[in-house]
Amino acid sequence: MGMPDRRVFLLVLGTLIAGLAGCGSRRVRDPGTGDGAAATPGVGAGAALPDPVGADVPGGLLDAIEHRRSLRDFADKAVPDEQITRMLWAAQGITDPVRGLRAAPSAGALYPLELYVASAEGVHHYLPERHALERVGRHDVRDGLAAAALRQSFVAEAPVVFVITGVYARTAGKYGERAARYVHIEAGHAAQNLLLVAESLGLGGVPVGAFVDDAVRRVIDAGEEETPLYVIPVGSPAR
Ligand SMILES: Cc1cc2nc3c(=O)[nH]c(=O)nc-3n(C[C@H](O)[C@H](O)[C@H](O)COP(=O)(O)O)c2cc1C
Repeated sequence: MGMPDRRVFLLVLGTLIAGLAGCGSRRVRDPGTGDGAAATPGVGAGAALPDPVGADVPGGLLDAIEHRRSLRDFADKAVPDEQITRMLWAAQGITDPVRGLRAAPSAGALYPLELYVASAEGVHHYLPERHALERVGRHDVRDGLAAAALRQSFVAEAPVVFVITGVYARTAGKYGERAARYVHIEAGHAAQNLLLVAESLGLGGVPVGAFVDDAVRRVIDAGEEETPLYVIPVGSPAR
């Protein structure tokens, strides 16, 4: 028997033996011990999985996932700087300084996203490498962002409005035509991190995708190479 035939024969034989061994037994093999004696709760054909929220991970991440809801009705209450900082860090902060890797995954670790925050204090641009903000404008542009976002007035009513932009060229050098797909996916990763931290801080927000790109770019004074991908107003719930 040649090698491929022999492999097929052994595979069929193994399948038959495994089938016979399973006859008459409906026990579920315990993946933890491998002894087959105890069924793992929730593991088996059609069995319900354990309640994910009841068994939350430390830090309450599952709780934040469960309770996150898009918020458009904001209280007239400032968001403290340290909370803004945490949201910026969650979206694009450096979490591995040695390798320069960030909180949100990035295709090829090329990091095509830029992050801005607009508030009554003006517009600031996040610098992940220094975990710092650079001021790009002194004026409150939230009205301008709301106008750019097809007059969705809640954008102007939020105490802080984050804007995520993407530079396709950074990713296109390596990934060509798939760059746009990758950059959009990454904006989703970053936005979700930000929104979950907002939720865990008792805040809320909404990811807004309906806006005029050029108008958003102009309002926050972003570079020509940047494409606005998300406008995310954040604040405390009005009630
Ligand atoms: C890509 C994208 C674009 C969105 N754009 C807007 C928007 O322009 N305005 C808005 O009020 N909500 C927007 N949303 C929020 C959705 O309306 C919201 O996520 C949806 O109603 C589900 O509600 P939830 O976020 O509370 O789970 C957008 C969501 C996504 C994912």
